[in-house]
Amino acid sequence: MGTPGLGATPQPATPSGAWMSFADEVSGTLAGLAEAFARDAEAVRDRAGWEALRVAWLGKKRGQIRVLMERIKEIAPDQRRAYGQGVNQLKGRIEAGLEAIDQRLVAAEQAAKRESSRIDVTLPGRAPRLGSLHPVTRVIRLIEGIFAELGYSVADGPEIEDDRHNFALLNFPPDHPARDTQDTLFVDGGLLLRTHTSPVQIRTMLARSAPPIRIICHGRVYRNDNDIRHSPMFHQVECLAVDEGISLGDLKGTLEAFCQRLFSPETQVRLRPSYFPFTEPSAEVDVTCSACRGTGCATCSGTGWMEILGAGMVDPRVLSGCGIDPGRYSGFAFGLGLDRVAMIRYGIPNIRMLFEGDERLLRQVRG
Ligand code: DAH
Repeated sequence: MGTPGLGATPQPATPSGAWMSFADEVSGTLAGLAEAFARDAEAVRDRAGWEALRVAWLGKKRGQIRVLMERIKEIAPDQRRAYGQGVNQLKGRIEAGLEAIDQRLVAAEQAAKRESSRIDVTLPGRAPRLGSLHPVTRVIRLIEGIFAELGYSVADGPEIEDDRHNFALLNFPPDHPARDTQDTLFVDGGLLLRTHTSPVQIRTMLARSAPPIRIICHGRVYRNDNDIRHSPMFHQVECLAVDEGISLGDLKGTLEAFCQRLFSPETQVRLRPSYFPFTEPSAEVDVTCSACRGTGCATCSGTGWMEILGAGMVDPRVLSGCGIDPGRYSGFAFGLGLDRVAMIRYGIPNIRMLFEGDERLLRQVRG
């Protein structure tokens, strides 16, 4: 009988017969291999190590088991069965061993994952980013609050107007330059985009059966105008008070109360004669500059005063055009640009910054 030929395995010294000595030799070798596997297995720390172990022992091409199987040719036919069984046993142990390591690795991976995703409840919380109101909205709310305390309600009107409400009933003569396409943006059907909030005065007076009337109105207005101080769309607030015995003194007192709340308690108000078709007399209204408190700076172009609104006593023709008896009633009105007030309050140099939708502006003017 030829040698079983298991590599460098020495010939057995047992004298008990060729078959027995071969069986001993095979099982001794297989036991040695099993131990070698167990040692290798213990050294495995990660997936890559596990894979290398698997390839070394169970690899289809050059794995240890594969080599052992191929060598069955060298075994005497009557011993092949026992040899095959031995190799299969070893293979079973290797498979079980690999499976055990796999479970160990999975458990370790899961533990690492749990550890890395653990919530540390002692860490400080992340503050949510707060939104903030647009500067124009802030100014509107402030003004609404001031006039609510003075007993005024809020009126509303359409942004698409007709000539009658935007001009004719406000006593604009047919040839007044403000009707010119230079200022007014016309839309189809003889309509136009309102150029100011004053038509809401007209709509309010037409809708009410009789004074007293105390309203403010705010909203978007449109003019064909575009530079650093003017935008084709901007915001105005309009105020109208009509009752018996309303005088210029009421206008001045209301303006003072309003401007001191809007800017600061020290704010002074000055009226300069002016002209508006719908008021008589009319005035441009200046307030002491809120940036320099009247000493002169860039905001007020060195004058100490800021021109912020137009005002006047409602022209009797406007009252009678709206069905209100000017013999019995009188009123005052004023209008101001909200965007300019927002620019002054928040130090915004260019009106277009208000309408660009840049979030950084909102973050900066907060508070
Ligand atoms: N509507 C005017 C404008 O847009 C502003 C104005 C002036 C409104 C005088 C008034 C007022 O109510 O009395 O230029």
